[in-house]
Amino acid sequence: MTMNIIFIFSLSMLPLMIFACPINFGYVRNITQFDPTCFNTSSIISNETQCCHTLKSLFSLGLAQHLNVSSMFLLPDNHTSVSCLKDFQVELASLEVPTHWVPTCLDPEYFVSSPSFCDRIESLDDWFRIAGKKTSIDSFCKDNLNLSNNHCVNCLTAIRITYRNDLMPINHSNAESCLLLAQLYAAGSVNIHGPESKDVASCIFQLNGTIVNMGM
Ligand SMILES: *[C@@H]1O[C@H](CO)[C@@H](O)[C@H](O)[C@H]1NC(C)=O
Ligand SMILES: *[C@@H]1O[C@H](CO)[C@@H](O)[C@H](O)[C@H]1NC(C)=O
Ligand SMILES: *[C@@H]1O[C@H](CO)[C@@H](O)[C@H](O)[C@H]1NC(C)=O
Ligand SMILES: *[C@@H]1O[C@H](CO)[C@@H](O)[C@H](O)[C@H]1NC(C)=O
Ligand SMILES: *[C@@H]1O[C@H](CO)[C@@H](O)[C@H](O)[C@H]1NC(C)=O
Ligand SMILES: *[C@@H]1O[C@H](CO)[C@@H](O)[C@H](O)[C@H]1NC(C)=O
Ligand SMILES: *[C@@H]1O[C@H](CO)[C@@H](O)[C@H](O)[C@H]1NC(C)=O
Ligand SMILES: *[C@@H]1O[C@H](CO)[C@@H](O)[C@H](O)[C@H]1NC(C)=O
Repeated sequence: MTMNIIFIFSLSMLPLMIFACPINFGYVRNITQFDPTCFNTSSIISNETQCCHTLKSLFSLGLAQHLNVSSMFLLPDNHTSVSCLKDFQVELASLEVPTHWVPTCLDPEYFVSSPSFCDRIESLDDWFRIAGKKTSIDSFCKDNLNLSNNHCVNCLTAIRITYRNDLMPINHSNAESCLLLAQLYAAGSVNIHGPESKDVASCIFQLNGTIVNMGM
């Protein structure tokens, strides 16, 4: 009897568990006022291109966290991606910032792992196979990327060089996806302070504004 109940219970929970988002978006609360033109309800000026750029960067911090723990750049399937965007939106809503940008700017299908996303690079192993372990990102994005010294600029240059020289030539139409992978690699694998640090948010993903409570 008990076994049956447990069995039925487990079966009904299964879809929820399989498609639960593996990312913890708690870091969003620690970054505030990063782009007042997009995230302030009383703001009337907003530029969709710029707001979407900001939102994509903010979401990408979560993908970097996912890369760090799973060694996979993107999410396993569409359902998981949909639940991640939902969790992300809930987190933004709790900060009372306008959330209509999430469906406007982020398409769940874009964040699903697939061989066509930047030249068959889905995992860290794929990255090492194509770009090697000694890219300029490995040299320049490790540490101390605060905006007041050259380290940040050097890291951004390293990201640009790596995705243009090592990744994009294989298929020129993949520029945007290859740039994202290079940023995720720098943020989730190379930087010693990890995907939820100030280095990563303010330098690698250019989230400007006041950042509170982010490590280093
Ligand atoms: C966010 O800030 C709190 C302190 O207010 C800290 O305990 C927590 O570790 C921070 N989380 C992240 C992801 O940085
Ligand atoms: C929101 O915008 C208003 C008007 O521009 C400004 O006075 C206020 O300080 C802003 N709030 C935040 C949290 O940025
Ligand atoms: C919106 O922002 C983008 C990027 O910052 C800029 O290229 C574009 O000209 C802006 N559009 C308007 C209408 O201000
Ligand atoms: C992914 O999910 C969204 C939202 O449910 C849906 O609109 C879209 O068609 C799905 N895409 C695929 C490839 O299943
Ligand atoms: C290049 O990438 C685009 C976009 O991902 C894809 O549609 C196309 O099939 C790719 N071309 C080759 C030759 O792999
Ligand atoms: C940022 O870099 C400057 C110059 O190297 C250094 O003096 C400062 O301590 C750094 N700030 C942080 C928060 O690491
Ligand atoms: C995860 O980040 C830490 C630094 O916070 C780093 O030492 C570790 O190598 C990263 N993991 C992977 C798989 O890259
Ligand atoms: C972030 O700040 C840098 C340097 O101050 C500036 O060049 C860049 O345009 C800003 N990005 C956004 C999205 O505001």
